[in-house]
Amino acid sequence: MTGVFISFEGIDGAGKSSHIQALAQAFGASSSSAASSGRQVVLTREPGGTALSEKLRELILHAPMDALTEALLVFAARREHIVQVIAPALARGDVVLCDRFTDASFAYQGAGRGFDLETLSKLEHSAQDLRRLSADLASKIRLKHGILQPDLTLLFEVPPQVAAQRLAQARQPDKFESQDVAFFERVASGYAARAAADPQRFVRINGHQSLEHVRADVMAAVKARGYL
Ligand code: TMP
Repeated sequence: MTGVFISFEGIDGAGKSSHIQALAQAFGASSSSAASSGRQVVLTREPGGTALSEKLRELILHAPMDALTEALLVFAARREHIVQVIAPALARGDVVLCDRFTDASFAYQGAGRGFDLETLSKLEHSAQDLRRLSADLASKIRLKHGILQPDLTLLFEVPPQVAAQRLAQARQPDKFESQDVAFFERVASGYAARAAADPQRFVRINGHQSLEHVRADVMAAVKARGYL
């Protein structure tokens, strides 16, 4: 049984977090159904998901740094997360729900900061190459063009102005959350470009509607793939 890898993306303030929790509960509640056939659910996030990657998260979110340094750190955190958590879980046949993955690097470091996309693509290929890790592990996991990619990516979309208003009421902003609306407009267009380049993997969710409607759209997208 191959695992299922679902990532959740969107600009800060798009409101994805509560839906990830709800989806984890839905998978947990239906773990005896035929579709999810007793799969365990692994709920994780990026940057983060391991002790080392969480330390890198602190630096990435709070320390000022050069753009290449930032890109290297997000991929270093990701590699560790893949090796320690994501790949073993998928090889066991688990469902991995990951709050952000590589699309965030293309959207934030690439489109938001204007960092070179070709370098990001090279980093993506080496960090997500599982053949270097273990041929046995790689044989148990679905790879796309030789690298690990989510099976499904739910992209939560809200107008950047709306997201900014939501963030203004939230906690103390980190390095990214304190960027201006123009930055988030670029990030949103970076996400839209990634979605257009891989329409099979992405489902775009309108995050600017009631919580119930967003939740229904999330459940429908996952059920349409036969995962729930
Ligand atoms: P979160 O607050 O949704 O957990 O996301 C953490 C922040 O890190 C968010 O502002 C986006 C940013 N980020 C990047 O800049 N690049 C990445 O590759 C990832 C995964 C997150």
